Amino acid sequence: MNKFKFTIALAMIMMLFACKNMKVNTEALLDRKVDSVFALMNIDEKIGQLTLYTSDYDVTGPTIRASYKEDVKSGRVGAIFNAVGTKYTRELQKLAVENSRLHIPLIFGYDVIHGYKTIFPIPLGESASWDLEAIENSARIAALEASASGLHWTFAPMVDIARDPRWGRIAEGAGEDTYLGSLIAAARVKGFQGQDFSGTSSVLACAKHYAAYGAALAGRDYNTVDMSERTLREVYLPPFHAACNAGAATFMTSFNEIAGVPSTANKQLLTDILRGEWGFKGFVVTDYTSINEMVQHGNCANEKEAGELAINAGVDMDMQGAVYNNYLKKSIEENKVNIEQVNAAVKRILRMKFMLGLFADPYKFCDEEREKKVVFAKENLDYAREVAKKSIVLLKNSKSVLPLSKNIKSLALIGPLANNKSELIGNWSGQGDWHNAVSLLDGVKQKVSAETKLLYAKGCNINDDSTNFAEALKVAQNADVIVLALGEGAWMSGEASSRSNINLPGVQNELYKEILKLGKPLVVVLMNGRPLTIQHIANTADAILETWFAGTRAGDAIADVLFGDYNPSGKLTATFPRSVGQIPLYYNAKNTGRPFDEKNKYTSKYLDIQNTPLYPFGFGLSYTTFSYSDVKVNKDSISMTDTLQISVTVKNTGKIAGEEVVQLYVRDLVGSVTRPVKELKGFKKLMLQSGESKEIVFKLTSNDLAFYTLDMTFKAEKGDFKVFVGTNSVDVKEAKFKIY
Ligand code: NOJ
Repeated sequence: MNKFKFTIALAMIMMLFACKNMKVNTEALLDRKVDSVFALMNIDEKIGQLTLYTSDYDVTGPTIRASYKEDVKSGRVGAIFNAVGTKYTRELQKLAVENSRLHIPLIFGYDVIHGYKTIFPIPLGESASWDLEAIENSARIAALEASASGLHWTFAPMVDIARDPRWGRIAEGAGEDTYLGSLIAAARVKGFQGQDFSGTSSVLACAKHYAAYGAALAGRDYNTVDMSERTLREVYLPPFHAACNAGAATFMTSFNEIAGVPSTANKQLLTDILRGEWGFKGFVVTDYTSINEMVQHGNCANEKEAGELAINAGVDMDMQGAVYNNYLKKSIEENKVNIEQVNAAVKRILRMKFMLGLFADPYKFCDEEREKKVVFAKENLDYAREVAKKSIVLLKNSKSVLPLSKNIKSLALIGPLANNKSELIGNWSGQGDWHNAVSLLDGVKQKVSAETKLLYAKGCNINDDSTNFAEALKVAQNADVIVLALGEGAWMSGEASSRSNINLPGVQNELYKEILKLGKPLVVVLMNGRPLTIQHIANTADAILETWFAGTRAGDAIADVLFGDYNPSGKLTATFPRSVGQIPLYYNAKNTGRPFDEKNKYTSKYLDIQNTPLYPFGFGLSYTTFSYSDVKVNKDSISMTDTLQISVTVKNTGKIAGEEVVQLYVRDLVGSVTRPVKELKGFKKLMLQSGESKEIVFKLTSNDLAFYTLDMTFKAEKGDFKVFVGTNSVDVKEAKFKIY
């Protein structure tokens, strides 16, 4: 090494040390600041910091504490949720800072799930974009708006794996896959939290609902969960771990029990795994009154005992239940709770307040001018349209009926969602105002030529049996092409919105059948918060576009796709079953000892339906077509420390440019415990011009193949593997390799 290079290297090493020391110093400084406030606190004030109440501004659960403002003044509250806007948060902050003995500022939290005022597609829809950058950016915009409106904390991302579309909250997450769900969890945490908390545009993220809430039996919300530790660790926990690694500031406990222990009392989850194994430094909040609900669960006799279980398990903050405020002091006096547990929780919360800069300026997020400028800004709305386009999944396009021509002579828009705004922003839509949403009809009007005859009829409501089929048929009869917009109401998914059948509600199927009889080119546009059972439509419609609840710019985005200004690129992140009886149906299932064999009766199947899904995980079409070369591996076998390269060449064989999500799956053929038939291990979204081809090289190491072996060690095992590459989880090409 020459002298110059040596000096540079030395300087870099010294810089690294300096950075590390700076970090240590910042941490130490933060601790000192926390200690300085903590030292002044009496026990009531400490417990106050562990208390989160809703304001009466917006309510997302059963009870309101009328006295929350008095409690704020007396220092009995650490954070408030459901209070938004610079004016109102300033007013409440003032109560805390000017009236409480120690002037400790409040944290303001809110469910900013898929946008604050500018609403993006529901998270399930957004996940179908497989576009981590877009997902991170949409969370960033949500954080920009929320923070400009006085908020410091969002109760998002929801990172629950969901394999049961009856469960209404499938809408709020990234679908059924652990690998993709983990990447999306990290992207959303980064988006919400930004680079750091020193400015005014980052909000604390909250990974929820910890854990396994999505595995509620029979898809009924809040229901019991029971599963092996292996499944918990392999399928349900990794997205939480990823959120933690991405720096998520807070975690929320889930309502459910797992194997008899409600999550809010689960020390293994909240302390041993979260803090012990993962090194989580933030604070844990309960879900809404979930401490109190342990009395109903039946693992304690009363709320006081419930509070003891919660704090001893590692719950720092009590959302809305007032259990800590009512009983914790007594529990400490009775030695049922160690004061050190309380002290640690208080310090974690104070730490966040210092990190957010609230002690320096409690009103730093209360700038009315900024709020006016940032919230619902044009660039946010434009981006919402971009993300909405990317989220749309083309499920069928026979006879290339799509894209439609803008010069089409006549087009009929039919259906309860064709000229609807109120449902488009979906559930949990923050401060989104559906009046601002762009309907499909309005979106289409912007596209078609002045000569096009654009016709509209509603036909029926979403969810009752009132019909106006006659008018709809008359209108549709006069059109060259019919676009039929069908789906669910926004309220039919989300919390407490499970369904036992997932058909189109009301008489929409009947409307569909009548319209179908006209024999015209028929495009179905679906708007819904979960996979639906639509076998008949899948068999008979010419085209199907799954658009979820696509947000404020839904109509524009759908029209972009319908008329080919955007070539659809979304891929399903949750399997569409043929029938509700197949649920749970997900791609990475186990093989069983009797995998289906049509020649053998005694194999795993139903008598009345195929095992296969209607649309598999990863499925989505484009207006162009792609071909895949054979899959090649650079070595037939690798050691535990080698890297395997898997390559495939993808070609756009159609006439227009398009994006494809190339998906990589593996199967570990023999393990000390059984392994899934396929597991997603990588993907690449790429744009190809017509005729263009590109080679994609994926890399795998044994780390990527690790799992919880028979003795629960997390490692890869030697043996034979298959690797698959393809356009969805079913249509793949495969190769083999070994680990030795
Ligand atoms: C209950 C929900 O389960 C949770 O996701 C939400 O953040 C809280 N209510 C607060 O609204």
